[in-house]
Amino acid sequence: MRRPKITVIGAGHVGETCAVWAATKELGDVVLLDIIEGMPQGKGLDLRQAGPIDRFDCNIVGTNSYDDTTGSDIVIVTSGIPRKPGMSRDDLMSTNMGIVRSVSEQAYKASPDAVYIIVSNPLDAMVQTAWKATGVPTKRILGQAGILDIGRFRAFIAMELDCSVEDITSVLMGGHGDDMVPLPRYTSVAGIPVTELIAKERLDAIVTRTRKGGGEIVSLLKTGSAYYAPAAASVQMAEAIIRDKRRILPCAAYCDKEYDVGGYFVGVPCMLGKNGVEKIIELELAPDEKKMLGASVNHVKELVGWVEQHWE
Ligand code: NAI
Ligand code: 2OP
Repeated sequence: MRRPKITVIGAGHVGETCAVWAATKELGDVVLLDIIEGMPQGKGLDLRQAGPIDRFDCNIVGTNSYDDTTGSDIVIVTSGIPRKPGMSRDDLMSTNMGIVRSVSEQAYKASPDAVYIIVSNPLDAMVQTAWKATGVPTKRILGQAGILDIGRFRAFIAMELDCSVEDITSVLMGGHGDDMVPLPRYTSVAGIPVTELIAKERLDAIVTRTRKGGGEIVSLLKTGSAYYAPAAASVQMAEAIIRDKRRILPCAAYCDKEYDVGGYFVGVPCMLGKNGVEKIIELELAPDEKKMLGASVNHVKELVGWVEQHWE
């Protein structure tokens, strides 16, 4: 039987960590592509040599050529520059738009049937860029942000309650910016509403820390941005699709009538299965939640406006 094929474009921090997790979970064969000559080949060979030790069995190829990516089932796009202290995700726009446009066009020629998971920032605008560059059906292109962002929210709640992260589930919506919308009302700890376990002002502080979670890591690292949790989140999406798990996860998906977004990729709860986005779940939002989502979506629209304006 043919094994699924996962291509990761960009073999930097996020890309190489995606390759490690995809390989150790034996999701399929992994192709790691970067523009730098030798680097993805070296990392691919090194990871392959970890297989006999850690007992994972898959082919791993590092490359600079899209020929090696032909017929991929999943393409994860992580190429682009990360932010440095003092930069917002939006400051990456002009460089990353060119990179994401070019890699998406080339990857799509080689793998027209793949599901595309975009990770490069500013995330929501980069998903739109990749979609515009390829015309891939909207069910088969989505962005990773929400799983990371609720991962942070869940970790902070577990730290506050000194309980296992495993029992915490949550919903987070909107764009991948500091105006993202964590939803405490839809957050529970083993079925118990979190609002019954943590006082409002502590919960508000956790929401704020979650919104600024990416920046907190950038200011600690000083030379780049987070990669373990972003890669774990991207591979969780790939796994849900490859194994047709129909998991409900927050992803940047194309919303038109949904939440009255009007044709943009924004974070919403999605069911992920073999076709990519199988379904978008529409929640009843309270007026304040609707307002926050509206503000976040407007920010995404501004960023996409920039992409449209600079598209030649
Ligand atoms: P990195 O600098 O470690 O790696 C980026 C890699 O992309 C480099 O190896 C570079 O050579 C490669 N690259 C650049 N242009 C390329 C091209 N034309 N073709 C192929 N490869 C190319 O950066 P890192 O930390 O891996 O972050 C990558 C991107 O992901 C950044 O834009 C970052 O902001 C974003 N990110 C997004 C997250 C999310 O939740 N959506 C979370 C973490 C990072
Ligand atoms: C983060 O939130 C860099 O977007 C990335 O860590």
